[in-house]
Amino acid sequence: MKISVAKERRPDERRVACSPDTAKRLVGQGHEVVVEAGAGAGAAFPDQAYEAAGARIAADAAAALGAGDIVLKVQRPLRAGEGAFDELALIRRGAVLVGLLQPLQRREDVEAYAKAGIAAFAMELVPRITRAQTMDVLSSQANLAGYKAVLDAADEFGRAMPMMMTAAGTIPPARVLVMGAGVAGLQAIATARRLGAVVSATDVRYAAKEQVESLGASFLAVDLEAMKAMETAGGYAKEMSEDFARRQREHVTEALKKIDIVICTALIPGRKAPVLITRDMVAALRPGSVIVDLAVEQGGNVEGSEFGKTVQSANGVTIIGHANVPSRIAVDASNLYARNLLAFVALLIDKDKTLRIDTADEIVKATLLTRDGAIVHPQLAPAPAAGA
Ligand code: NAI
Repeated sequence: MKISVAKERRPDERRVACSPDTAKRLVGQGHEVVVEAGAGAGAAFPDQAYEAAGARIAADAAAALGAGDIVLKVQRPLRAGEGAFDELALIRRGAVLVGLLQPLQRREDVEAYAKAGIAAFAMELVPRITRAQTMDVLSSQANLAGYKAVLDAADEFGRAMPMMMTAAGTIPPARVLVMGAGVAGLQAIATARRLGAVVSATDVRYAAKEQVESLGASFLAVDLEAMKAMETAGGYAKEMSEDFARRQREHVTEALKKIDIVICTALIPGRKAPVLITRDMVAALRPGSVIVDLAVEQGGNVEGSEFGKTVQSANGVTIIGHANVPSRIAVDASNLYARNLLAFVALLIDKDKTLRIDTADEIVKATLLTRDGAIVHPQLAPAPAAGA
């Protein structure tokens, strides 16, 4: 099979969907890998590293995208009018496209994939089952985002993280609150602890309490009984009730009086992120405190955070709303994302090295958006006409 990789052209994107390591493995499996010149530059993978792995370098996006039976992407391909050129138009009819396609938010893109005759797979829809762990892009990228969020906060924070006892006096440790203890939040806790901070965390899921405590952080519980009913069968959070939200705000406002850094990671799949820190709560923090809003792309956990910007509140609190945090740690994010895709692509290739889209496979079924000119994903396909 021909597997092609183009340079990512959307703003704030430095990652690449194939690393020299995964290129080598694909070539070793008997495939031809075509990489656009400069595709790995943002992740410090030079063209020579891909060539050494046995890949062929294509001069431009047209040559790379047009070559692929399978096209590997990080972000959605640009469509006409979205950027320098129409990447989607360069992908062959009948080809497979794999990437972070945001299908639930970008319905018009999904229609365009169908029209272009592409079999499109959205990696964020990989189910969280044991067999799919190696393909779990949400986890691989959120883990790095949680780590980087703490470093971004430390960078803006005008004080040290660990306690330091010096001849000139003692510096107290920074106090960090992590809101949302999923994949990103747990890594943020571990990272802040390694830097020497005193860490607490909160979540709406009961299961998070033990995970937080096992990392040496204290758990800020709002209502343990109510939390037992706030996790879906898939392990995700449910939307909190207005009563729970109010009580959470009261608890957190009280805690914020002693907090220096807040890392917000709370998400509800398919919905706008919950607002956890209101303007009044920002005002309760001391000047010099720092908030990182990792949910800023999904609407934000923090009132006043701005996508792609670092802003100051009136009372001197820095609110960080970086766009695309995984891309800020592009080398590791690309390496892990590329490994996720390597595992995923293996599902689509038969023993005789031909393409086989087996919709009986639950991972394939959960991620396949379009095929043979039609939208096939159950969450996206139009409802059958009445009486049909
Ligand atoms: P996510 O990115 O959807 O949300 C992040 C965190 O925010 C979650 O812990 C969620 O409970 C929390 N949250 C939502 N609303 C909140 C609120 N109002 N206040 C405070 N916190 C709030 O979640 P993520 O990180 O993707 O993980 C979701 C679950 O999936 C976790 O239980 C995780 O352990 C599990 N998981 C399972 C995997 C597997 O079995 N293969 C792989 C990865 C994660």
